[in-house]
Amino acid sequence: MEIEESHIKLAVELIKRGWEERKIRRELPRDTADEIIEIARARIKARDKFSRDDLWMDLSGLRYSTHEVVARYRAERLRPESIADVSCGIGIQLIFFARYAEKAYAVDIDERKLFYAMKNAEKYGVKDKITFINGDSLKKEIVDRIDADIIFSDPARPPEMPERRLEDLLPSPVQIYEAYKHKTDAFIFDLPPQIRREKIPWKGEFEYIDLYGHLNRLTFYFEPLARAERSAVMLPKGVRLESDESLEDIVEWSTEVGRYIYEIPQSVHYADLINELFHKVRGSLKMLMREKRRILATADEEIGSEYLKAAYHVLGIVPFHPMRINDFLKREGFGRATLRISIPDREYYNFKRRVEMNLKGERRAYVFQFGNRAIITEKL
Ligand SMILES: C[S@@+](CC[C@H](N)C(=O)[O-])C[C@H]1O[C@@H](n2cnc3c(N)ncnc32)[C@H](O)[C@@H]1O
Repeated sequence: MEIEESHIKLAVELIKRGWEERKIRRELPRDTADEIIEIARARIKARDKFSRDDLWMDLSGLRYSTHEVVARYRAERLRPESIADVSCGIGIQLIFFARYAEKAYAVDIDERKLFYAMKNAEKYGVKDKITFINGDSLKKEIVDRIDADIIFSDPARPPEMPERRLEDLLPSPVQIYEAYKHKTDAFIFDLPPQIRREKIPWKGEFEYIDLYGHLNRLTFYFEPLARAERSAVMLPKGVRLESDESLEDIVEWSTEVGRYIYEIPQSVHYADLINELFHKVRGSLKMLMREKRRILATADEEIGSEYLKAAYHVLGIVPFHPMRINDFLKREGFGRATLRISIPDREYYNFKRRVEMNLKGERRAYVFQFGNRAIITEKL
């Protein structure tokens, strides 16, 4: 039975009002109630991910879907004339490509996901440009139906994947390449950002995207579409940095903390573009530490640069002990602390509780760990 939009809207309303699922079910057609409730839950959960609040998706479709800000950025970068998304999910990325394209193909092995993609394409007004194909995009009969300049794939990642390998992605980019290489030499693959670049057997660009300050995507563009070897993009700002091997190495390190510290975007770190960033920022900036989740630089002057993620004013340095940090925060009139430190989750809350013990007010400190010392700062 077809699901009606009005039933999803009703379910959203009732969930928001806090109704029990048992009671909501009674208001919905019996054979589609499960699906309606799941779509409603996904819509509520999606919140700011999309500009529309009436999209069709299940919870897994939502989790795997491309954030609209990323989808829009890549579509603007590419402006494809024709494109096939051979693992389209609920269709968000393809819909944004289709805004520019004259012709687009949406393929997914999961019939329901493809149905949602079709519903979503309708909402965004691009349905008529898209050919929807349900099936395994590696199968010859599907390959034969596709005629597009660019093949795009954002494959699913099995969560239990121990090591990030191309072969484990579904569909595997290696197999997609083999299946479609007689049609085009322009492929784009979404890859797990942790994957080692040496493992990619093709020439092209590795583009790391930060979204709202966190690493969100690694996109690999084959040579005909590449603009650099490596790049970092910060969204929604839209700032972009490209690799340039001809630049002189100007990165200096400091063992001393200056008057300010600066967080370097994760995408810049993953893309190995610290030197390129230093060329853009200049000033007296020096690297302070480079950990997996935190890359810090320092300077004695205030540097305003769109390439830096955040800037902090250093107020003091104390031994890295919760009570010493707490003493400092109390003395300086801080009410809260955000800990930018890497300790295991189970110790984190205990540590934070001790750091914030008996603090009063709203003023917030940001605390970084630097060896056996704590750097206490305030955000600029
Ligand atoms: C990460 S999701 C894509 C999300 C999409 N970019 C979006 O914005 O919604 C990956 C999709 O690949 C599909 N898939 C996996 N293997 C496939 C195959 N062999 N052929 C076609 N689709 C496949 C899955 O069903 C899943 O919907």
